[in-house]
Amino acid sequence: MHRAGRLSEAEQQYQQALVLEPDNADALHLYGLLMVSLGRLEQAAGQIARAIDAKPGVAIFHNNYGNVLMRLERLDEAEQQYRQAIVLDSDRVDAMNNLGVLLSRRGQHADAEKVLLRLVELLPQFSDARQNLAQVYIATGRLSEAVDQCLKGLVTTPANRGLRHVLGLAYGALGWVDEAVELYRNWLEEDPDDVRARHHYSAYTGQGVPDRASAAYVRMTFDTFAEGFESKLADLDYRAPALVGQALAKALGEPRAALRIADAGCGTGLCARFLKPYARELVGVDLSRPMLERAALKQLYDELRQADLVEFLQSRPDAFDALISADTLCYFGVLDGFAAAARHCLLPGGRLVFTVEALDDEQATPPWRLQTHGRYSHRRAYVEETLIAAGFQAPEIQGVFLRNESKKPVAGWLVIATTC
Ligand SMILES: C[S@@+](CC[C@H](N)C(=O)[O-])C[C@H]1O[C@@H](n2cnc3c(N)ncnc32)[C@H](O)[C@@H]1O
Repeated sequence: MHRAGRLSEAEQQYQQALVLEPDNADALHLYGLLMVSLGRLEQAAGQIARAIDAKPGVAIFHNNYGNVLMRLERLDEAEQQYRQAIVLDSDRVDAMNNLGVLLSRRGQHADAEKVLLRLVELLPQFSDARQNLAQVYIATGRLSEAVDQCLKGLVTTPANRGLRHVLGLAYGALGWVDEAVELYRNWLEEDPDDVRARHHYSAYTGQGVPDRASAAYVRMTFDTFAEGFESKLADLDYRAPALVGQALAKALGEPRAALRIADAGCGTGLCARFLKPYARELVGVDLSRPMLERAALKQLYDELRQADLVEFLQSRPDAFDALISADTLCYFGVLDGFAAAARHCLLPGGRLVFTVEALDDEQATPPWRLQTHGRYSHRRAYVEETLIAAGFQAPEIQGVFLRNESKKPVAGWLVIATTC
C-alpha cells in the first residue's frame, strides 16, 4: 500500500504491526518513511531514531535518518548519520552522495568535491553524484569542469533531466549560447513537454516566451532546490529579504505587531523575521510545498498556503495592511495581473514592497525580458507605470544589489508603493 501511494491505509497497517510488535525495526523505519511522505518530519525523525535503537547497525536506517534531519535543517546531526552509514557499509553510495550534498550546502565545497569525486571514480555511472559534483563546480566558478561532469554523466544516462538542466546552467554561465540552444532543442525533440527545457529554450531563442513562468516550471525549480536554498543563497550574499524588511521598516516606523501582512512567494520564509515584529497576522503563500515546509519550521507564519500568488491575492479582498514579495516577481514578465491583485488585497493606505531584477535597457520592448538563466528582468519605467495604472501612488523605486550569480552582481529594483 505504501508503494502504491495508498498512504492512509499503509499507515493503519504500520500502526497495527507496531501494536503487535512495538520494537519491529523495519516497521518503525518504514512508518518513518511514510511520515516523510506525509510531511510529518519531526515525527518521522523520532520514528526512525526508534528503529535505530531497536536494531542498531543497519546502514540504511542511518542514511534515511540523515535525510530527514537534512530536511529539518539539522545538518550536524545529519552528517553524523551519513558518516555512521558509511562506517557500517562502505558500499553505501547513497550515503556518500548525501554527505557530498550536505558538505556543499555548508559551503565546504573542497570537502564535498573530494567525497563526490571519490564516488564517481568508484561508480562512474552514478548520475546523481555527477550532477552534484557539477553543481559544486558551478558554485565555485569551475564551469568547464561542471560541463565535463555533465557530459560524462550523459554518456551513461543520455536522457537524465537533472544532468541536462545543470549542463544548461553551466553553458549559460559560460555564455556558450550555441551549445545551450542545441542542448535545449535536442531535449525538446525527445521530450516536448519538459517544462524546464521549454522555458530555457524560449529564453535563448525568443520563441514562445511566456508572459510569466508556468506554475509547473516554478514548482520543478523550487521543489528540487528547497533543501539547499538557504545555504546556497547565503553563499551568494543574498540581500532581498533584508532589503524588503528595511524598506518596510522605513515606511512603517516602530514595530507594533498590529498589521496583517502577506508574504507573496514566501519560499523558506527568509523574510519572516523582518516582518514578524510588525505583524498581528503573517500569511505566506508559495507554489512549492517543500519551500513551504521549510517556512513552517520557522514557526513565524500564522498561515501558509500553497497557491499561485496572484490567485491567492485575488481571493483575499481588502485583507492586508502590507504585502511584500522578495525575489519572486522575477518569475513574472507581465506585472499587470500581480499589480491588480496586490491592489485588490490591500486596504486603503496599504503598503506594497517588492524586488525585481533590473533590465537596464530602457528602450527594450517588451519592457521585460526572460533571461537565459530563466528569470525575468524589468525596466524601471514599466514597473512604475504598471503600479500607477493599478491604483498605487507614486512608487519609490531604488536601484539595489540583490545577490551574486556566477560571481557577478545581480542588480535589482526595490519598490515601495502605497494604495490610493
Ligand atoms: C527565489 S525564491 C524567494 C523566496 C523568498 N521570498 C526569499 O526571499 O527567500 C522565489 C519563490 O517564489 C515562489 N513563486 C514563484 N512564482 C510564484 C507564484 N506565481 N505563486 C506563488 N509562488 C511563486 C517560488 O516557489 C519560490 O519559493
